[in-house]
Order: sequence, then C-alpha cells, then structure tokens
Amino acid sequence: MLKTHIMIKSLLALIFLFPFLAYSNPVLDRQESMRDFNKLMRTANNLIKDDVINDDLAGIYEEIENIMRVYPTLFPDDSFGGKSKASTDIIDNRELFNQIAKETEDNAALAKLSSLEGDIESVQQFHQNLFGSCKSCHSRFRD
Ligand code: HEC
Repeated sequence: MLKTHIMIKSLLALIFLFPFLAYSNPVLDRQESMRDFNKLMRTANNLIKDDVINDDLAGIYEEIENIMRVYPTLFPDDSFGGKSKASTDIIDNRELFNQIAKETEDNAALAKLSSLEGDIESVQQFHQNLFGSCKSCHSRFRD
C-alpha cells in the first residue's frame, strides 16, 4: 500500500516535471524568441503601413519589450556551440550584449508609448531603431 503510494507520487512528479525539463532548453528558447521577434516586427510593419496606430500596435511592442527583457538570461556559459549560432563573444562581453538588449527593450517601450499616444512620427522612429538593433547585435554576437 505504501509502496503503491510512493510509486504514484513519483509518477505524478515525473508527469509534472516533464514539460519543465522539455522546455528549459535555453538555445531553443532564445531561437524561438528571435523568430517571434521577427514575426512581431513584420506585423507591426504592416499595421504602420496601413496607418493603424492603436492599442494593438502597442501590444505588439509590449511583447517585444518582454522578449528583450528576458533574452539576455537565455545565454548561460554552457549553452554555446552545437545548433546555436550565438557567438562566444557574448561570454566575454556580457556588458555590451546586455546593453544592446536593454536599448532594444527601451526602444520597444518607447514605441509602445508612442502608439498609445497616436504619435506616428515617433512610432516610425522607434520602429526604425528596433530594426537597427538586429544588425547591431547580429554583427557583433552572431556567428
Ligand atoms: C541583443 C542581441 C540581438 C538582437 C537585438 C537581435 N538578435 Fe536576432 N539573434 C541574436 C543571437 C545571439 C542569435 C543566435 C541565437 C542562437 O542560435 O543561439 C539570433 C538569431 C536570430 C534568428 C534565428 C533564429 C533561429 O530560428 O535560430 C532570427 C530570425 C533573428 N535573430 C532575427 C532578429 C531580428 C529580426 C531582430 C531585430 C528586429 C533581431 N534578431 C535582434 C541576437 C540578437
């Protein structure tokens, strides 16, 4: 009886832990973040092109802001090589890497505020800055 109880408990623990174990791969997480970032930028682009400067657009920039806040935490020292295209320069220059991520996060926050205010010109400016961030970071930190 006690043995069965312990077995059931272990089984339950495994079932609950499995998704956590399966999803806590930082390389897959950061690559997925980038694909999301890419898609969000395209959606924002289309909204701007159609002059849709509203809460929906603000929501997209908020998602980008959240992605970039977490992004630098997805590069533990032992997560380089293999399927990752991240440069080990990140390990040696974390301050610069974090700074570029922070600037990107800030530009997303400003684009969000400008969208809420309906300020098209500012939205366009911060959107351009966001596009600039891809190259700044990739040229330095992606192999
Ligand atoms: C703060 C740094 C940083 C910024 C900003 C950044 N990237 Fe990246 N990006 C990376 C790194 C590092 C990788 C490689 C990650 C890996 O393979 O481990 C990457 C990979 C990618 C990938 C490949 C994802 C995959 O499926 O493997 C895409 C697509 C991408 N970035 C798009 C973008 C776009 C679009 C922007 C700008 C709108 C952007 N990135 C801004 C650092 C950045």
